Amino acid sequence: SDAEQQRRFDELIAADERIEPRDWMPAGYRKTLIRQIAQHAHSEIIGMQPEANWITRAPSLKRKAILLAKVQDEAGHGLYLYGAAETLGVERAELMDLLHTGRQKYSSIFNYPTLTWADMGAIGWLVDGAAIVNQVPLCRCSYGPYARAMVRICKEESFHQRQGFEILYTLSRGTEAQGEMLQDAVNRWWWPSLMMFGPPDDESPNSAQSMAWGIKRHSNDDLRQRFVDMTVPQAEVLGVTLPDPELKYDDGHWRYGPIDWAEFAAVLKGRGPCNRQRIEHRRKAHEDGAWVREAATAYADKQTARSQR
Ligand code: ACO
Repeated sequence: SDAEQQRRFDELIAADERIEPRDWMPAGYRKTLIRQIAQHAHSEIIGMQPEANWITRAPSLKRKAILLAKVQDEAGHGLYLYGAAETLGVERAELMDLLHTGRQKYSSIFNYPTLTWADMGAIGWLVDGAAIVNQVPLCRCSYGPYARAMVRICKEESFHQRQGFEILYTLSRGTEAQGEMLQDAVNRWWWPSLMMFGPPDDESPNSAQSMAWGIKRHSNDDLRQRFVDMTVPQAEVLGVTLPDPELKYDDGHWRYGPIDWAEFAAVLKGRGPCNRQRIEHRRKAHEDGAWVREAATAYADKQTARSQR
């Protein structure tokens, strides 16, 4: 009966065991996971755009090869995550459609422009740094396929974070103009990176239930604080300032000033600097890829017909 299945599910969650695709799960649990995993997958795919913008302009062949590999990693992350979402009974095509029609979100961070080469460093250091802090606990998510996908994704994210820091470290020892470019990039990416963790805990509608289900392991504000504590000493190594006059060390933590939640809300509503461009580019890429999907389907049909002969 449903009550028995619910009891079994509650026991698995209480024992911190994993829920697998064939297990019974409450409709709300399934729906929340589809939402979060799909948003996460969309973020990886949309997140390729700001960096792809710099592939042809990377300052050396080596930098170009690294950036190219990184952007390809993001495509891979998107694919594992769509795969994990599909284990919950949704079709990838349906999720893409929800993204293209603005009915499913992707991370706010990817609606900001990448104006200089230093932005490649700032994205690696701050954006991927924030992504790791948010995603390492997801390796222990109660839903098995999502948790397992996160293990590999986090390993690659750590590499991305290191490469970003290394770009900035190189700039920090360069010319005065390079130092200014570095500081400008950090100024522009700092606050949007803090917004990546989502709304404050008392305005986060999904947190309590997601934590009870073992989908989220820490609150948005806890992870944000962890990120700030980790990042401030790294900024000192780079010799940059963070654009927050209220930042101060107190009782074991770096306390930060108020976040502009009106800006976050505007970006979520589609009014960030690059929202339109990101979605238009994604839709066009999807349309341009129609022939690949048609060819793959025709090939699969031919193989099926042949095997049935
Ligand atoms: N950008 C866009 N939307 C956001 C963001 C953000 N930075 N933060 C929160 N939201 C959305 C939530 O998705 C939720 O939307 P919905 O309920 O309308 O679908 C709404 O704002 C309210 O927020 P919460 O109740 O706090 O939502 P949730 O419990 O899902 O927590 C969080 C948000 C922390 C982002 C969570 O979904 C998560 O951990 N996701 C997995 C990680 C991820 O998606 N990372 C993507 C960026 S990192 C990268 O790709 C490099």
